[in-house]
Amino acid sequence: MALERTFSIIKPDATRRNITGKIIAKLEEGGLRVVASKRIRMSKDQAEGFYAVHKERPFFGELVEFMMSEPVVVQVLEGENAIARNREIMGATNPAEAAEGTIRKEFALSIGENSVHGSDGPDTAAQEIEYFFSKDELVG
Ligand code: PPS
Repeated sequence: MALERTFSIIKPDATRRNITGKIIAKLEEGGLRVVASKRIRMSKDQAEGFYAVHKERPFFGELVEFMMSEPVVVQVLEGENAIARNREIMGATNPAEAAEGTIRKEFALSIGENSVHGSDGPDTAAQEIEYFFSKDELVG
């Protein structure tokens, strides 16, 4: 399969605990390459826009507040089958259901404070990459 790109966020619970390096190591060991990365503090508008698909869900306000609470690291990852591969390496959204060896099994605190986000398909990957990065920031 051709190289694919996906979008990743290292979430506030992970930056707060200073474990971004441990998470990036797992992504790299899993065969993914970081082709863009920046540490940012999300604004309310950015967080609400990014998670707009979840705006009717009961946890929306909590999710937005959490994503603004500490810096995050937004990244573009590249590799074979990168979207699915990244989701495998992350593990299930709820850490209680995440498989052994996954990032969420090892590091996540709860279904909300679950250390990482990863795009769920090709369309969302393209949209999410464009939401945070310009083309000249992607260095493959
Ligand atoms: S999934 O994987 O998209 O089907 O998961 P989903 O359950 O739909 O969750 C979507 C995102 O919302 C976060 N989430 C929560 N945040 C706070 N509180 C509660 N209860 C909660 N439940 C889900 C979850 O971490 C997902 O974040 P992302 O960044 O999309 O992984």
